Amino acid sequence: MLKFDFSLAFQETLETGLSFSELTASSAEAVSALENVLKSDPAFLRILSETSTIDQVEQHRSWLSGFDDFVVVGIGGSALGNAAIHSALKPLNWNSPTYDRKGLCRVFILDNVDPDLVGSLLEEIDPGKIVFNVISKSGTTAEPMANYLILRDYLRKNGLEAKKHFIFTTDPEEGTLRKISEEEGIRRLPIPPGLGGRFSVLSTVGMLSALSEGIDIQKLHEGARSGLERYTRNDFKSNPMLVNTLLHYLYLRKKHDISVMMPYSNRLYLIADWYRQLWAESLGKKFDTNGKTVNVGQTPIKALGAVDQHSQIQLYNEGPKDKIVTFLKVLNFSNDFKIPLAHSDIDSVSYLGGKSLSELLNSELEGTALALCENGVPNLTISFPTIDEFHIGEFIVFYELMTATMGTLMKVNPYDQPGVELGKKITYALMGRNGYEDIRQRYQERASWRFEI
Ligand code: PA5
Repeated sequence: MLKFDFSLAFQETLETGLSFSELTASSAEAVSALENVLKSDPAFLRILSETSTIDQVEQHRSWLSGFDDFVVVGIGGSALGNAAIHSALKPLNWNSPTYDRKGLCRVFILDNVDPDLVGSLLEEIDPGKIVFNVISKSGTTAEPMANYLILRDYLRKNGLEAKKHFIFTTDPEEGTLRKISEEEGIRRLPIPPGLGGRFSVLSTVGMLSALSEGIDIQKLHEGARSGLERYTRNDFKSNPMLVNTLLHYLYLRKKHDISVMMPYSNRLYLIADWYRQLWAESLGKKFDTNGKTVNVGQTPIKALGAVDQHSQIQLYNEGPKDKIVTFLKVLNFSNDFKIPLAHSDIDSVSYLGGKSLSELLNSELEGTALALCENGVPNLTISFPTIDEFHIGEFIVFYELMTATMGTLMKVNPYDQPGVELGKKITYALMGRNGYEDIRQRYQERASWRFEI
């Protein structure tokens, strides 16, 4: 089970900020917000009680074993979770040509339409041994669709058939990808109805790439289900999800507009990236659920310990008091190194000798947390006993529930993203898509005043 330490988040230790009694005074509000989330039977929880996700993905196990490389072609919620799981659960050098993967796939994430990213991927792979998983709920997103067209052409130029190397993960009823897959006999995995991208990592969206590299997807779900049991309890003080949600909500009301997630683990760094999207896209909203203009949100930032102690911490300690910081700590790393004893006559080096790297890293976390406390910056620590499937599944469901509950407290819809649409439409117009002529005209006029140097 994950462990939660909220000791440095309250006035009782900080000498400023939110008091514990203020938190408990609002506990009923948080409990009722969670009840509302559960009553709405959200798709991200429904997929955990259905066996279909795992079964659907497992059907492709033997097909996948014929490939060396697996490329996720998707963006946002259709890629960030895959990247986070890959990076957390496989060694950091998994994709290295010299690593012995015992026949399992390397996993690459092709999210951007940066030509240099596409070029370097195509240089790296063997076309005959690759599977491209195009993931798009809508089946129309410009970036994965453009990359799909390039990859399809790349296969053709190498004398290979699209249907042997592509699998689409998309809406079972709608969208262009579904249509293409039917016309061309391309394999397909369904994304359950009502499941938004950033809440979809434990569905078919995130599970196929995980399976291809030998991650135990059953265990991921097991961890998530156990988290679901623990984090849906309505006893406020024994439910860390409720405490953390309310803590963030009440600090947001006190103008702590920034939420930093800072893992002291390179393997957990991309999970902070996944969190960044979940928190930003779900809670950053112009309108509340009554249609009133509110322009709310809490800006998520990711930082890496101990690296960003030498980059960000000066600001967090002494800059504006607008943050709440979450540290992610690992109690048992899969590697560790004893620092050798040497230079016994040099104090600034010799104290390190005989300690382990994990001891140093976790002491740095503790030192940073206490220094922030000294400076009145609320912070908390979530500890992973180990980084494994069970705890990653538990962590994912913790934050999905927390985001949905926070949305309810903030009275915004955490499942939509209307603010992304306008930019998309203007891009379509600029790229000459039919039906967007008016928009093109309007924005070209608006952008006619220029100041360029
Ligand atoms: O969380 C979301 O809903 C978004 O980030 C989407 O995942 C992203 O825009 C990609 O959309 P789609 O899966 O439809 O291609």
